[in-house]
Amino acid sequence: MSIEPLVRDPDEHGIALAAATLRDGRLVAFPTETVYGLGADALDATAVAGIFAIKGRPPDNPLIVHLADASEFGLVVAQVTPLARQLADRYLPGPLTLVLDARPHVPRITTGGLTTVAVRVPDHPVATALLERTARPVAAPSANRSGRPSPTTAQHVVDDLGGLLDVIVDGGACPIGVESTVVDARGSRPIVLREGSVTREHLGVAAGEGTGAEARGSAASPGTRYAHYAPSCRLALAVAGTAAEQAVQLRDAGHRVGLVSSVSAPPGIVEVARFDDAAGLAKQLYSALRAAEAAAVDVLVVEEVVPAGVGRAVMDRLRRAADGAVPLA
Ligand code: TXA
Ligand code: MG
Repeated sequence: MSIEPLVRDPDEHGIALAAATLRDGRLVAFPTETVYGLGADALDATAVAGIFAIKGRPPDNPLIVHLADASEFGLVVAQVTPLARQLADRYLPGPLTLVLDARPHVPRITTGGLTTVAVRVPDHPVATALLERTARPVAAPSANRSGRPSPTTAQHVVDDLGGLLDVIVDGGACPIGVESTVVDARGSRPIVLREGSVTREHLGVAAGEGTGAEARGSAASPGTRYAHYAPSCRLALAVAGTAAEQAVQLRDAGHRVGLVSSVSAPPGIVEVARFDDAAGLAKQLYSALRAAEAAAVDVLVVEEVVPAGVGRAVMDRLRRAADGAVPLA
């Protein structure tokens, strides 16, 4: 198995190597402020097919196209609506993805067969340098194998996809830790298709209003249909203040228990992660899920956060993971 170059602390040479690799129709994993992406030239259908093959991703789940600057939307978007311009001025670069009508030359494999395209301008110095140097739109899903937690470090990418990529650029841990907010920006009001750290409060969308479920036609975010990450242990969500107590009960019932909470783990319980607030949990969530698997716990108790602000995205991801989790034998 060939081992791809892992570019650490990327300098100009590392970025140039990664950009040349993308321009050559090959695959590069790179950091963003949310999670690591698995990139390919978005306009090269063969290169994009490689992403689907390596991830084991269903072909009708479209990819996000990454650009260095919002002024480049016209490369892939047919019509930049006034709403999209307004959101871009306010939030980009940043963790907000806009769904708009695609230009016809964008390969259908990139858009999962849709006539719309999702565009995003990441706010991460390595991603920006890479996109500028590549000077092409870069399609990039999260750089995990389908069904695994999104990667927030280069090591997570290596763990899932090592040996299958052409270059992995290591830019350290991702500062946000949950994927971008996805918004349908074709109309006059934003429709939230996936929760992220640009929140409903920021967007002025009330909870329940403009959800993916009621999105028009093909706008509904296909990715949210799939069962996401299914941990190999049971996941128990605990109301704040009760996590340690629940963990102790499970421990006393003979289970090997992991804890992710704002308090320290009682004796005999694996402290998988400790957080102060919702943003702190967001940042550690995916690495904690991977760590719980590595520690082979039977059950991971996770303290819930208030589902407002980035806490809504965290609870969304946690509930999806809990739905897929194995029942406790
Ligand atoms: O933060 C992020 O968005 C990361 C980094 C790497 O940029 N990317 C990411 O990509 O999370 P991925 O492929 O794991 O998730 C993309 C989501 C999926 O739910 C997909 O269905 C949705 O965006 N999406 C992409 N294109 C769409 C479109 N044209 N219409 C509706 N939803 C779309
Ligand atoms: Mg993903």
